[in-house]
Amino acid sequence: MAAETAAIQAYSQLDEDDVQARIRAAREKLGDEVVILGHHYQREEVFQHADFSGDSLKLSRQAAASQARYIVFCGVHFMAEVADILSRPEQVAILPDLGAGCSMADMADLAKVERAWRELSQVLEPDEAVTPVTYINSSADLKAFCGRHGGIVCTSSNARHVLEWSFQRREKVLFFPDQHLGRNTGHAMGIPLEEMVVWDFDQPLGGLTPEAIRNAKMILWKGFCSVHQMFRPEHIDRFLERHPETRVISHPECSFEVCQKSHYVGSTEYIIKTIAEAPAGTRWLVGTELNLVNRLAERFRPEGKQVHFMSPTVCLCSTMFRIDPPHLAWTLENLVEGRVVNRIQVPEREAAQARAALQRMLDLPV
Ligand code: 13P
Ligand code: SF4
Repeated sequence: MAAETAAIQAYSQLDEDDVQARIRAAREKLGDEVVILGHHYQREEVFQHADFSGDSLKLSRQAAASQARYIVFCGVHFMAEVADILSRPEQVAILPDLGAGCSMADMADLAKVERAWRELSQVLEPDEAVTPVTYINSSADLKAFCGRHGGIVCTSSNARHVLEWSFQRREKVLFFPDQHLGRNTGHAMGIPLEEMVVWDFDQPLGGLTPEAIRNAKMILWKGFCSVHQMFRPEHIDRFLERHPETRVISHPECSFEVCQKSHYVGSTEYIIKTIAEAPAGTRWLVGTELNLVNRLAERFRPEGKQVHFMSPTVCLCSTMFRIDPPHLAWTLENLVEGRVVNRIQVPEREAAQARAALQRMLDLPV
């Protein structure tokens, strides 16, 4: 680890143009051996090197389809895990900085979810009455839990389809770790708010009464994204007072109040597509991560579209931001030398169960 830190420090001291040149040179040497996947929240200096970019769903499909020996994931840990689970055994998934986690994913862990399942069994028969649905922003062992219990994975772009699939099988859903995606999607499907209860994982029985659990359609884990919780309904109100013609678009990880005040709600890919297809001269207020919003503002300025960030304060995903040019250069140059660094490898038993839950999602009609 100390050697790794020293190596990264050496790259950090190089001139930015040198680092970029070294990334390009290493990529050229690696040719088809490597594919670089980049999530939309990546900083521009890294994002420009992505062979494929996308939201979590698109990138997981890309990882599954990739032929490259090395899949370098410029994103966060759970994304690289999905790449490892869905790729062939001889392929290698790599995360250039192992510190690039997801604080929301960390809000649910296997011990707590298993405890919730046990506690639910005091009130009902969970394996008959409840489909466990995990947002893709979760660790592989939680996906495996869903695989074992007839559950499924969802992303922000297919949550509604996944919930429809789930309710066809069992009457209730335990949705983790993001309460907001669960609530926003459930509400859009017509589930009353009072039938969506929050499971507080620090309380016995989630802080709920047996009656509240029996009456609930969705049990929402008390997790959230620290970036998307920064957007507030008053930010929208204030902006609309000044520019009433603005169209507001938000990611479903934003709070219920923000999503209710938004004209459009959807994944990062949906946000990009919606603004791309909008008429020239439109103005947009966007509730999602800053790097993406800045890129959209640049991209659509020549078409006369004005794209604004929803929050008055800077909020970016600090873990996504850990993937920087020095880490990417270090990763690629090691591969050129035949050394794999920062491999993400999910143990096979866990991977097989997680794959089952992922495959149920991927098999849904698009
Ligand atoms: P998308 O799947 O919409 O890109 O979202 C991923 C994510 O982590 C949003 O915070
Ligand atoms: Fe996780 Fe939020 Fe970052 Fe997305 S933006 S990776 S949910 S911390």
